[in-house]
Amino acid sequence: MRFDVITLFPEMFSAIKDEGVIARGIKKSLLLINTWQLRDFSHNKHRNIDDAPYGGGAGMVMQVKPIRDCIGKIKQDNPKTKVIYLSPQGERLTHDLAKELSSLDSITLLCGRYEGVDERIIEHDVDREISIGDYVISGGELAAMVLIDAVSRQIPGVLGNQDSLDDSFANGLLDYPHYTRPEEVDGQVVPKILLSGHQANIEAWRQAQAIQNTQKKRKDLVKK
Ligand SMILES: C[S@@+](CC[C@H](N)C(=O)[O-])C[C@H]1O[C@@H](n2cnc3c(N)ncnc32)[C@H](O)[C@@H]1O
Repeated sequence: MRFDVITLFPEMFSAIKDEGVIARGIKKSLLLINTWQLRDFSHNKHRNIDDAPYGGGAGMVMQVKPIRDCIGKIKQDNPKTKVIYLSPQGERLTHDLAKELSSLDSITLLCGRYEGVDERIIEHDVDREISIGDYVISGGELAAMVLIDAVSRQIPGVLGNQDSLDDSFANGLLDYPHYTRPEEVDGQVVPKILLSGHQANIEAWRQAQAIQNTQKKRKDLVKK
């Protein structure tokens, strides 16, 4: 899958491009992340891409032309890309949405700053608005990285161990509890069943724990 990210802070994406699961997916040629510096599409010598809002008020607004030109450039060799604007006003990013997006070949992510983008971009150039939660953060970059990570994990081969697709939400439940060495720490012991070597019993215990965990922490998921 190819991600094109439109941002004022391309260097932030080294956080996912250089380390961990995403970096490995890039090395395996399963993922490609291109960042586009929006200022390169500015129409003035100061490389500004924002201006004061019509009607007054605090904060600046990102202008139409630089964003539209940047999307146009990306679409030149990638006409079918889906353009997503990261926005607190968008539909909520969930496991199901991440899975749905993972079937696409190409996604373009528009990261807002300041008060966000001129509404005409949302009307004319954006296919979908997606939010990472009901709170406001200072820019779309962290949200874009969350989306890239959540979507990439659903692409076959990106995770070293496909079992990790049994993580929370994959089958509607939260994950079961995990333990590692040593067997006892400060009087706390590992459940005996996990030391039994009886795989069928262990699987049954894990399933029961996942249900119990979900009932305890997320009653809304149990209802679903
Ligand atoms: C300070 S916010 C602008 C908020 C906007 N004025 C509003 O109230 O809807 C700047 C940028 O951060 C990003 N952003 C903020 N919160 C977000 C969220 N919950 N999910 C996704 N992106 C978010 C968006 O790209 C947004 O354009």
